[in-house]
Amino acid sequence: MRISLVSCFFFNLYIATFFSMAALSVSVQCQRNQQQLLLGFKNSLNSSLSEKLGTWNQGTDCCSWDGITCDTSGRVIQLDLSSQRLSGEINNSNSLFRLRHLQTLKLAHNTQLGGQLPESIGNLGQLTWIELWSCKFTGPIPKTLEKLKRLIHLDFSHNNFFGPVPKTLEKLTQLIYLDFSYNSFSGPLPSFASLRNLSELILARNQLNGPILSTNWSSLPNLVSLDLRRNSFSGTVPLTLFQSESLKEMALAQNQFSGGFGEVEGEVSSQLEVIDLNHNGLEGQFPMFVFEIKGLRYLSLSWNKFSGVIPLNAFQKLKNLSSLDLSYNNMSVDSTFTNLPFPDVYELNLASCNLTKFPEFLKNLSFLQDLDLSNNRIHGQIPSWIWTPHLFHLNLSLNFLVELERASNMSPYMGVLDLHGNQFQGKIPFFPPDVRYLDYSNNNFSSVIPSEIGDFLNSCDFISLAGNNFHGSIPESLCSNFHLAVIDLSNNSLSGSIPHCLLTQMSMWLGVLNLKQNNLSGIISDTFSEHCGLQNLDLNQNRLGGKVPKSLANCRMLEVLDLGNNQIEDTFPCHLNSTSELRVLVLRSNNFRGDVNCAANTTWPMLQIIDLASNSFSGKLSQGLLMTWNSMKANKFEPYSPHLRYELPLWTGIYSQDSVRVTMKGLELELVKIQTFFTSLTFLPTNLKAIYLKI
Ligand SMILES: *[C@@H]1O[C@H](CO)[C@@H](O)[C@H](O)[C@H]1NC(C)=O
Ligand SMILES: *[C@@H]1O[C@H](CO)[C@@H](O)[C@H](O)[C@H]1NC(C)=O
Ligand SMILES: *[C@@H]1O[C@H](CO)[C@@H](O)[C@H](O)[C@H]1NC(C)=O
Ligand SMILES: *[C@@H]1O[C@H](CO)[C@@H](O)[C@H](O)[C@H]1NC(C)=O
Ligand SMILES: *[C@@H]1O[C@H](CO)[C@@H](O)[C@H](O)[C@H]1NC(C)=O
Ligand SMILES: *[C@@H]1O[C@H](CO)[C@@H](O)[C@H](O)[C@H]1NC(C)=O
Ligand SMILES: *[C@@H]1O[C@H](CO)[C@@H](O)[C@H](O)[C@H]1NC(C)=O
Ligand SMILES: *[C@@H]1O[C@H](CO)[C@@H](O)[C@H](O)[C@H]1NC(C)=O
Ligand SMILES: *[C@@H]1O[C@H](CO)[C@@H](O)[C@H](O)[C@H]1NC(C)=O
Ligand SMILES: *[C@@H]1O[C@H](CO)[C@@H](O)[C@H](O)[C@H]1NC(C)=O
Ligand SMILES: *[C@@H]1O[C@H](CO)[C@@H](O)[C@H](O)[C@H]1NC(C)=O
Ligand SMILES: *[C@@H]1O[C@H](CO)[C@@H](O)[C@H](O)[C@H]1NC(C)=O
Repeated sequence: MRISLVSCFFFNLYIATFFSMAALSVSVQCQRNQQQLLLGFKNSLNSSLSEKLGTWNQGTDCCSWDGITCDTSGRVIQLDLSSQRLSGEINNSNSLFRLRHLQTLKLAHNTQLGGQLPESIGNLGQLTWIELWSCKFTGPIPKTLEKLKRLIHLDFSHNNFFGPVPKTLEKLTQLIYLDFSYNSFSGPLPSFASLRNLSELILARNQLNGPILSTNWSSLPNLVSLDLRRNSFSGTVPLTLFQSESLKEMALAQNQFSGGFGEVEGEVSSQLEVIDLNHNGLEGQFPMFVFEIKGLRYLSLSWNKFSGVIPLNAFQKLKNLSSLDLSYNNMSVDSTFTNLPFPDVYELNLASCNLTKFPEFLKNLSFLQDLDLSNNRIHGQIPSWIWTPHLFHLNLSLNFLVELERASNMSPYMGVLDLHGNQFQGKIPFFPPDVRYLDYSNNNFSSVIPSEIGDFLNSCDFISLAGNNFHGSIPESLCSNFHLAVIDLSNNSLSGSIPHCLLTQMSMWLGVLNLKQNNLSGIISDTFSEHCGLQNLDLNQNRLGGKVPKSLANCRMLEVLDLGNNQIEDTFPCHLNSTSELRVLVLRSNNFRGDVNCAANTTWPMLQIIDLASNSFSGKLSQGLLMTWNSMKANKFEPYSPHLRYELPLWTGIYSQDSVRVTMKGLELELVKIQTFFTSLTFLPTNLKAIYLKI
């Protein structure tokens, strides 16, 4: 995911150096003991799926084995078994650690390979290069690592290491690349002051804390990239970071840095191209000195507490700026503008910046892909010139917009359109072709949903028309769209019955079907697909009758089932006994009857919330049932008609935070963002920890 020209350049540079060092490894005879050690290593692992290890056998010269490179004397100097689907644990007595001439060790991306990293790693004193990323290593870093004095490249990212980042790393003075990101390291940051060759330091997504003043960053003459995002670092952002003559990329987002920048004195001679400080607690006046950092490409200061008025025309100094995010601070952006051109950014996020109109310079941004002007005070019409040729993601939600000027030249890439929380009335103004995410919720639309809606949305993953005044029936054409993962039509005045096809074929593709709070009637047809993929089915507050369909048991991924406030006549739905993901079950205010004890035989290990109130259930809850539901964190559990309240699942956290870093690839990576959303979203509010019990 880390796409940066800077790091690619350096990476290639030292890869090149590296290969020229190792190029001497042609047709030599493997030394006998080396062969035995390698076979010992092979036998310690489960290598049944590895192609490379398939070539390792007694009868052949080990220097010819896949993944092995020898020096001229037939000693193994490189071992590369990355992505070989190896599994097992490497322990202290593994013969790997007797390959004393090893210079390169690459076991990356074997996600079932791991264990505690053994102390005997320290025996491999010739190592210059270690890659163990995306394995399953755990525990603290052994102290013996400090013996690997020749290391220039150390990548332990994406494992389960924990404990402190050892102070003794200071002894590895040759290091150029150090990556411990995506582990569970904790504690304070040691000093890196002696690592004078260090070019990239990547510690993102750990649990490190405290200030980062232990190193005088401007004294590391080769540091190009510093990535400390997603930790709990605090204190001020050291000004020495802005005084470094080498640093190009400063990523400190999602920490707890505080304070302001005060006055930065003298010329800012910074080489910085990327400044990523979003989601911290920085405050005070907006740091005007950033306008002197002429090479800046990426500036993200969103979700801090900067205040003041920012004249947008100051940004015209930053000719190379391609991404700007100032959203959610305590400041006003002044977009009244002179005739000076704004940098041709591809991403511009000015959410919650106190804007009252669309900045005119947007017209001229020919590369703009991503525009967020949500949560401002913009009134009136969306101008047709907003649809710049490459626009992909447009968020104008939470303004006071009432209509949309007709546009002839819509971007063919328009993928995400969010207009929720405005004041649109009447009919839906238009459906962008090929849109993937469309949110028209919480406006004041009051028409029928066009019957051909499904044809307009043939690439759409997500549609929300919730919180309007749509009436009439739900168009069957929605079923023609096999992409749809989320349909939210809740909180409208829709009537008629639920189209069968939504439950029949559509339930294969749909993750969320929210029809809550309408006037839907009839029964819920018993036609859920055998391959039903529904995770969230919310039909609360309609006039639905009949029974809980038997075929709903096909929806084995179901997390939320809300049938509350309807007219269902049935007994407790014990046939849902194998929906093992179920977290929320609401049957409140229907005509359910009989006892609920069959639920003791269900497997709902995830269940957190159950609401059975206002029905005609009878009998006592058995001890067994209470045990079955013991994962529930109810502070009290009444043996008669438990009466539980729950909060509605909310749509939050649309994008994974990893996308913040995406700076160069434009459209392709925007698509990645959306896919990440659909694979990583859990359809429950993550803050839902408590269960409220009312008697
Ligand atoms: C180390 O691993 C080897 C092979 O996987 C195994 O035979 C041996 O028992 C292990 N030793 C210890 C101390 O766990
Ligand atoms: C080795 O790995 C394969 C594939 O993961 C697995 O099916 C097999 O059971 C494993 N064998 C042992 C001995 O662990
Ligand atoms: C580290 O830097 C020193 C000089 O500062 C240089 O002599 C040495 O070759 C460098 N090491 C590597 C691996 O580039
Ligand atoms: C940090 O290092 C730079 C360059 O080596 C030096 O000029 C500066 O005085 C140092 N700053 C501090 C606070 O030690
Ligand atoms: C802007 O980018 C261009 C091309 O990458 C580069 O040549 C130029 O030096 C940059 N300008 C500044 C002020 O860094
Ligand atoms: C917002 O900025 C104003 C000054 O512009 C200041 O008075 C106020 O305290 C700030 N509010 C917060 C929450 O920081
Ligand atoms: C927003 O702008 C109005 C004037 O248009 C001003 O009164 C108000 O203080 C601004 N709010 C913030 C947070 O800057
Ligand atoms: C837009 O571009 C035109 C022609 O390049 C220029 O004359 C005009 O001043 C620009 N307008 C803005 C607001 O940047
Ligand atoms: C649009 O902006 C709002 C408010 O800033 C935010 O809640 C929403 O998630 C954004 N929508 C998309 C699709 O990014
Ligand atoms: C919503 O639209 C109706 C007309 O369709 C209008 O009477 C009503 O005032 C509007 N409500 C709001 C809050 O604008
Ligand atoms: C689940 O319920 C069905 C129908 O009520 C029943 O046939 C089946 O045996 C139950 N399965 C378990 C594991 O209790
Ligand atoms: C649970 O299942 C067992 C065996 O399948 C059955 O004997 C028992 O009656 C069931 N309990 C309830 C409450 O349905």
